[in-house]
Amino acid sequence: MAPNPQSSQGSPLDTLQVRAVELRKILQRASYEYYALDAPTMEDSVYDALYHELLNLEKQYPQLITSDSPTQRIGEKPVSQFVSVQHNVPLYSLENAFTSGDVTTWQERCQKGLEKQEFLDSVCELKIDGSAIALTYEQGILVRGATRGDGVSGEDITTNIKTIRSIPLKLNLENPPDRLEIRGEAFLPIAVFDEINQERSQQAEALFANPRNAAAGTLRQLDSRIVAKRRLDFFAYTIHINQEDFASQNLPDISSQWQALEFLQQIGFRVNPNKKLCKSIQELQDYYDYWSTERLKLPYMTDGMVIKLNEFSKQAQLGFTQKTPRWAIAWKYPAEEMPTVIEAVTVQVGRTGTLTPVAELRPVLLAGTTVSRATLHNSDRLAELDLHIGDTAIVRKAGEIIPEVVRILPELRPNGANRFVMPTHCPECGQPVLKPEDEATTRCINIECPAIVRGAIEHWVSREALDINGIGEKLVKQLVTENHVTSVADLYALTSEQLQTLDRMGQKSADKIIAAIAQSQTKPWARVLYGLGIRHVGSVNAQNIADNFPNVELLASASKEAIASIFGIGEEIAQSIYEWFRKGANQDLIQKLQDAGLQFVNTMQESQAIAINPHIAGKTFVVTGTLPTLKRDEAKALIKSAGGKVTDSVSKKTHYLVVGEEAGSKLDKAQSLGVTCLSEAELLELITPFPPKN
Ligand code: IVH
Repeated sequence: MAPNPQSSQGSPLDTLQVRAVELRKILQRASYEYYALDAPTMEDSVYDALYHELLNLEKQYPQLITSDSPTQRIGEKPVSQFVSVQHNVPLYSLENAFTSGDVTTWQERCQKGLEKQEFLDSVCELKIDGSAIALTYEQGILVRGATRGDGVSGEDITTNIKTIRSIPLKLNLENPPDRLEIRGEAFLPIAVFDEINQERSQQAEALFANPRNAAAGTLRQLDSRIVAKRRLDFFAYTIHINQEDFASQNLPDISSQWQALEFLQQIGFRVNPNKKLCKSIQELQDYYDYWSTERLKLPYMTDGMVIKLNEFSKQAQLGFTQKTPRWAIAWKYPAEEMPTVIEAVTVQVGRTGTLTPVAELRPVLLAGTTVSRATLHNSDRLAELDLHIGDTAIVRKAGEIIPEVVRILPELRPNGANRFVMPTHCPECGQPVLKPEDEATTRCINIECPAIVRGAIEHWVSREALDINGIGEKLVKQLVTENHVTSVADLYALTSEQLQTLDRMGQKSADKIIAAIAQSQTKPWARVLYGLGIRHVGSVNAQNIADNFPNVELLASASKEAIASIFGIGEEIAQSIYEWFRKGANQDLIQKLQDAGLQFVNTMQESQAIAINPHIAGKTFVVTGTLPTLKRDEAKALIKSAGGKVTDSVSKKTHYLVVGEEAGSKLDKAQSLGVTCLSEAELLELITPFPPKN
């Protein structure tokens, strides 16, 4: 129970409440200046001190906590799934323009619709390449944040939205209307996107193709603590207020987009400062041209300009088509593509042994940066391109940050050029590589391959794994090349004297590293499991698996089905874990690490009840037709995350068919076999009544 402030301190709760309100107000103002106006006035240390004062106050007297307190931005535990919500006003998309001719045609169409001869004033905004979200404020307090979804309904991602610092939890308005909706774009700064991809590549996870996908993926992450780390940002661009509320609350008269943007900024939002009210086609053109190069210097991605008629009365007169407003258009920038020569192809070996061909290019300026390498993905892609060394290729860098080869110009191929073929032997260790018929990837399977050993060690020592300080890429390379270590287990046999024989390594640093290695023996089983670097097992999955299999023996002897029945673990991950433990070399590794004193058992506090959804786990589902709110892939992912299996065709083994509109032969077959059919709502019902155990 919370202490009673009156008896314990003799200070009335009212005084503390006044202080809490005051602190929130000061902190809110400081964050507004920092995040929305980009003009900080408070020093970080002062902010931190005030924040901690509030945090302590709320910890002691939880009755003082309010939902708009800056301390409430990050949730305490992951949610099991997102709930689908209906938008009050649909989120429309935009018609695209690619040339100034398209924009002129649009302007003329607007003029005709409004029976006007003159140019209609238009606001130009940058088109931010992120994910549209809708925010609902009631009495000035943020109550809901939702994804765009299909425009009519999206997912309630309030817990994640709250982690975005540039989104106010409380509006800066004296008399806030009962209800108000804000739309805008959530996005990831390019630097953060790069960091995330670097991390993912270290964990052998698929890279995000561009910041837009990464932002969308982050917004749908179930654990808001992870979202908070990703530093999403937000620009507001639309406001919806009921007309009655407008009149009754004495709000300023907002009759144009330009005023709306100013108002949004006043009430607490970050609004993109790069905007212009244009009064002629020429001004639109100049602004578009200006940003075609300037945009490349921005810390976030833009893929065009959004042009909106300024006056709301004109917007209202023109209205909407089925999908888009008639009064706005997106003028897109072309993807950046350039021809250049492929001078060589090198092959990189990743930490899981995957061979990736990389085109070494004659350097070319693309989307503002010099590009000298581009990925060729895998051997299927190579075959498709029919790539020869010396070929001229079109290289693209659009939303994609990693440049790629789009196509080859065979007409420019030099005489006698040789086709590039993937090596049959690993470029790092010389052992034969494996390329299964039905897979695109070529893999080195020699577990002693230096590239794989280096990768495994780098992963083992990384922060989220065993967190061994002082062992960087260079040191790993030396250790492996000079044969001091051939697996992560060998780290535990290293001596300070041995390390001191290495380049520029004094006794002090060597001792420190040995101490850091020893320290890792105390790290919990979940970290060790993650550190093993089993394909598809990220840190969150590892924790989940360790919670359900409290020691390595249980996991090593578990069936694929038992692993897959863990809430959140799919078949692919289960398969990968199962296979990993079947290999003799891996069994030896576990033995060595156990002998070295690492933790392969959960301590009592770490042990947790197993959360399996009994309605879904182990059951086989097929999804068919168009569902009312979920995309088919989303429904499948939801089923899998609850432990169910999804297959493509209906058979006697199918437990449930999830049916949407215009379902065809699958529905007939299910009916003839007597398979239970579920609507989307019934599916969600089956999934939701089972909250994960704490
Ligand atoms: S206005 C009815 N303004 O572009 C108004 N959209 O292709 C529709 N976007 O889904 C949106 N920056 O996600 C608008 N300044 C901006 C924007 C913007 C990015 C995105 C938004 C929308 C998509 C349409």
